[in-house]
Amino acid sequence: MSALRVALIGAGGIGEHHAARYSKVSGAELVATVDVDGERAKAVAEKYGIPNAYTSIDEAIAAGGLDAVDICLPTWLHKEAAVKAAEAGLHVLCEKPMAVSLEDADAMIDAANAAGVKLMIAQCRRWDNYWGAVEKALKSGVIGGPVVWRDVQGSQGPKPAWFYARDKGLGPLVDGAIHNYDFARVMFGEASWAFASTRNFKDVTAPDTGIAIVRFESGDELQLSWTWGLPQGSYSARAMTSWGLKVSSTLGRPVAMSRFLPPPRATDRSWPSGRMGRSSRSPMKSTTCTSMRSNTSSTA
Ligand SMILES: NC(=O)c1ccc[n+]([C@@H]2O[C@H](COP(=O)([O-])OP(=O)(O)OC[C@H]3O[C@@H](n4cnc5c(N)ncnc54)[C@H](O)[C@@H]3O)[C@@H](O)[C@H]2O)c1
Repeated sequence: MSALRVALIGAGGIGEHHAARYSKVSGAELVATVDVDGERAKAVAEKYGIPNAYTSIDEAIAAGGLDAVDICLPTWLHKEAAVKAAEAGLHVLCEKPMAVSLEDADAMIDAANAAGVKLMIAQCRRWDNYWGAVEKALKSGVIGGPVVWRDVQGSQGPKPAWFYARDKGLGPLVDGAIHNYDFARVMFGEASWAFASTRNFKDVTAPDTGIAIVRFESGDELQLSWTWGLPQGSYSARAMTSWGLKVSSTLGRPVAMSRFLPPPRATDRSWPSGRMGRSSRSPMKSTTCTSMRSNTSSTA
């Protein structure tokens, strides 16, 4: 079977990350990049040997020769691109979060259904070996349950301004935490209730700081605390980006599941605020799951 011919729509931070990965798979190939910043589209195309570069999805569709698009645009632009691609008969892989509103998400689903194409949201934790190890450990029951999964993160946040706009990126409790909500549903099933409280450190329209608690019908609970509100270069930003993941049972059997982000190398001054700094360099080399009671541990 020939490889799926894909156009990368949005060649920014995560778009380049995707481009690098396509060069390692055999079932799909990038045949075009699209970015409103033409220089960026060309630069990513040249770097990864992609034959075409365009400045709009319309141009790419009109040029033909595509089977699918991979949408890596700012979140508020997902819907328009997904609907256009579906209407052109192209399958759609789209970065998370799916959209900025339920209406937009429904429009994407409707367009894909009407055209008979596939629509997939890139909830990458479902396919990631590290998270796979976490899922396996939790589902095996080795750490007991019900589980309280706590995830506390603090950073200066991503650089592009749209991430902090209420109508464009929605801030960390949506943009970043969508990974947690999604993966918690994979692990725990349906949610029964949720609570959230938000505030701002920065003068932006989306909440840059907040907490969320999601209780699941299974009795498991997700507790999130997340900020992108720390000032550029603050020491505490660096301390807080040594973020961890903790899971503990509530049945008198304390359990720890942690991942450790080593401190930046002394020479690496961009960490963690580089364009793809945190994500591309997250050295999640080891996952340790330890049950204090049984004193068993597994490392992946
Ligand atoms: N899966 C993950 O872990 C992960 C990580 C980072 C970002 N994301 C998601 O990926 C999406 C993109 O994020 P990013 O960090 O790459 O953003 P970014 O701002 O770095 O890149 C977006 C790119 O889209 C281009 N663009 C903007 N408007 C356009 C238009 N109308 N047509 C064509 N190109 C246009 C910009 O020039 C830019 O190069 C967001 O939805 C974000 O939440 C996911």
